[in-house]
Amino acid sequence: MTATLIDLRSDTVTRPVEGMRRAMYDAEVGDDVFGEDPTVLRLQETVADLLGKERALFVPSGVMGNQLAIRAQTQPGDEVICEAGCHVANYESGAAGVLSGVQLRTVQGERGLLTPRQVEDAIRPGAYWEPQPRLVSLENTHNKAGGVVQPQPLVRGIADVARRRGLGLHLDGARIWNAAVRTGLPEKELAGPFDTVSVCLSKGLGAPVGSLLAGSAEVIERAHRFRKMWGGGMRQVGILAAAGLYALEHHRADLALDHERARRLATGLADLGAFGIDPEEVDTNIVMFETLDQPAAAILAALREDGILMVPFGPRTIRATLHRDLSDADVETALERIRTRFG
Ligand SMILES: Cc1ncc(COP(=O)(O)O)c(C=O)c1O
Repeated sequence: MTATLIDLRSDTVTRPVEGMRRAMYDAEVGDDVFGEDPTVLRLQETVADLLGKERALFVPSGVMGNQLAIRAQTQPGDEVICEAGCHVANYESGAAGVLSGVQLRTVQGERGLLTPRQVEDAIRPGAYWEPQPRLVSLENTHNKAGGVVQPQPLVRGIADVARRRGLGLHLDGARIWNAAVRTGLPEKELAGPFDTVSVCLSKGLGAPVGSLLAGSAEVIERAHRFRKMWGGGMRQVGILAAAGLYALEHHRADLALDHERARRLATGLADLGAFGIDPEEVDTNIVMFETLDQPAAAILAALREDGILMVPFGPRTIRATLHRDLSDADVETALERIRTRFG
């Protein structure tokens, strides 16, 4: 393997920087199960404020944030409408069925995007023999679609349908920060149409752990109970909340660099002609490309030999994700190695 490893598997592979580690060391802490950790309280208030919601709850992971949102807003036998490629339906180990007893109604979108009409058509009329439609869940940015930003007019249209038909609306905003940087719209505006929003600090923002679920005081109160039930009550966790606060303060604007580098990588790959990719479709930090005539596994193995790590997202689909531990030079080196092998 080549000397420097260029790890494009995910924006979760970043390591906490020195300033963040210092903030963790210095964090004032208390027992958060008693609601006494001042740093956790500060993080929760900061995120609630950023998202324009009454309250936010610190949770260990994005999966727990999404699943608490579902549990707190549904009953067993209910149905949750979501896009076919979304994280909730594909990468959460079937949790919604197990933890909430709901069924997911997946609808195939275009580049991960549902239209208001599609959502409307997926809402069952309400006969007693049907599952009860209760919640719509969207994802911004959409991971599997390639970091696609949800256009706000589309989101508002879907929110109108959900309200009119009496359904709740959840946003998996694991990468809402990327969407905010890309669109120039504040997170508050992106989160506005939703009842609940989950966000992650441990992806592009570079914190080691941590997500939050935000919403009304009432829904967060319910989520708090289920967080405890599911074993997610943490004690002197201000040590982690401090990393999150540091990330929010110091790292959000840097996401623009990841977006530029993703475009650069995509353009370089497109120029090679060996893969299926349209750089214009790269909205944020995720580059999804097709391997054309070869299985993704074969390409990934060759890349690994050249010191480049990416992940499969289908039999012939590969994902490369830019993040703050990679530089412009890393992108150029990766392209050089790819050119040497596949050019
Ligand atoms: C869109 C999206 N939602 C939720 C998650 C889950 O986050 P976690 O890995 O912290 O559970 C991920 C993780 O990659 C994600 O990409």
